[in-house]
Amino acid sequence: MNLKSITVSVAAIAALSSLNTRAADAASLRKQALEVVAPIPERMPGAENDTKEQISLGKKLFFEKRLSKNESQSCNSCHVVDKGRGGVDNEPTSPGAFGKRGGRNSPTVLNAGFHLAQFWDGRAETLADQAKGPVLNPIEMAMPAEAEVIARLTADKGYVKAFGKAFPGQTAPVSYDNMAKAIAAFERTLVTRDRFDDFLKGKDSALTAAEQQGLHEFLTVGCTTCHTGPLLGGNGYRKIGILEPYSNTADKGRIEVTKDEADEYVFKVPSLRNIALTAPYFHDGKHAKLADAVREMAKLQLGKQLTDDQVNAITTFLGALSDKGRKAPKTAAMGGSTAGQP
Ligand code: HEC
Ligand code: HEC
Repeated sequence: MNLKSITVSVAAIAALSSLNTRAADAASLRKQALEVVAPIPERMPGAENDTKEQISLGKKLFFEKRLSKNESQSCNSCHVVDKGRGGVDNEPTSPGAFGKRGGRNSPTVLNAGFHLAQFWDGRAETLADQAKGPVLNPIEMAMPAEAEVIARLTADKGYVKAFGKAFPGQTAPVSYDNMAKAIAAFERTLVTRDRFDDFLKGKDSALTAAEQQGLHEFLTVGCTTCHTGPLLGGNGYRKIGILEPYSNTADKGRIEVTKDEADEYVFKVPSLRNIALTAPYFHDGKHAKLADAVREMAKLQLGKQLTDDQVNAITTFLGALSDKGRKAPKTAAMGGSTAGQP
């Protein structure tokens, strides 16, 4: 054997063993991750009872602008689920039918049916309860009364037929309750699929080395104290500003729902699935950039000052949680941090 071939085989062995180390690392990383998170289930609770007639009616209603007073807005105006978007409008707070804005950022409707409850403060228990709110909310769709919603829907023969098919055997199928039920049935189809789940299910190459590094940081820094389960959130309530107070004290969060002092500044822990698609961040839409939200989370919730490398690694990992086939609009800023700029 000449010297050249020895060098080649040494290099080959080195390459092989580094691949093996990565595979072993991926396996132990997966094991560590599966202790606190899980793949998204096949379908949402309750979906087994939804009929295709209810789902198709619900979809039509979700995109229906006649559900707003001046026919300017549908659910999809603030929760854009078509065009490959992330189920949000990417605004800090959303303009309603007459341009007025509420105080909170629109959360995504994607995977929402997996959450323990709906809204930032969890004030609606189910998707159907939630769907009754925005239509009559004066700042959102601003319809004056349920009766007017029913009158509009009844005036359309197509809707009368579709409600009849979706809720067979009922004497008055066109009802406000059935509208909400159908919308919820459609929302239960909004389950997303991403590369992180492929990784959790055993495919090492589903995450890049940088994303695996980010996952490692995410797990070790302590984000999964709160962002756990299949959605990396959506399954509990926590205060924003545990170790340092949050800058904006206008919204007192869940205390308005429970009247319990312990719930001041408590919000639902948001899911981090599709997070790269849903800028801006926090209940008030404070941060346009994901990296800034990550940095502030570590500081407020864990009392940790992350390095730029850690922030970038975690942000890179979070990018692997986006539904395949969905993309953030160009205007939504996801990338680098603005922290430290004048
Ligand atoms: C004008 C904008 C706007 C419109 C129109 C609108 N929403 Fe929302 N939606 C919001 C905002 C803002 C919130 C958060 C409010 C809060 O938490 O107090 C929200 C919350 C939600 C949530 C809770 C998600 C979560 O993670 O907690 C769901 C589900 C939802 N909306 C579905 C709908 C449906 C269905 C319609 C149509 C019937 C609709 N929205 C119409 C702005 C809007
Ligand atoms: C003690 C619980 C807790 C810990 C630890 C925690 N978070 Fe959060 N996180 C929350 C809560 C609660 C919110 C909602 C805050 C709000 O807007 O009021 C949130 C919001 C977020 C958001 C914005 C979500 C959105 O839809 O706007 C991101 C991103 C985030 N967290 C990432 C992280 C990362 C990364 C870590 C680790 C560095 C982390 N969090 C640690 C509880 C926690």
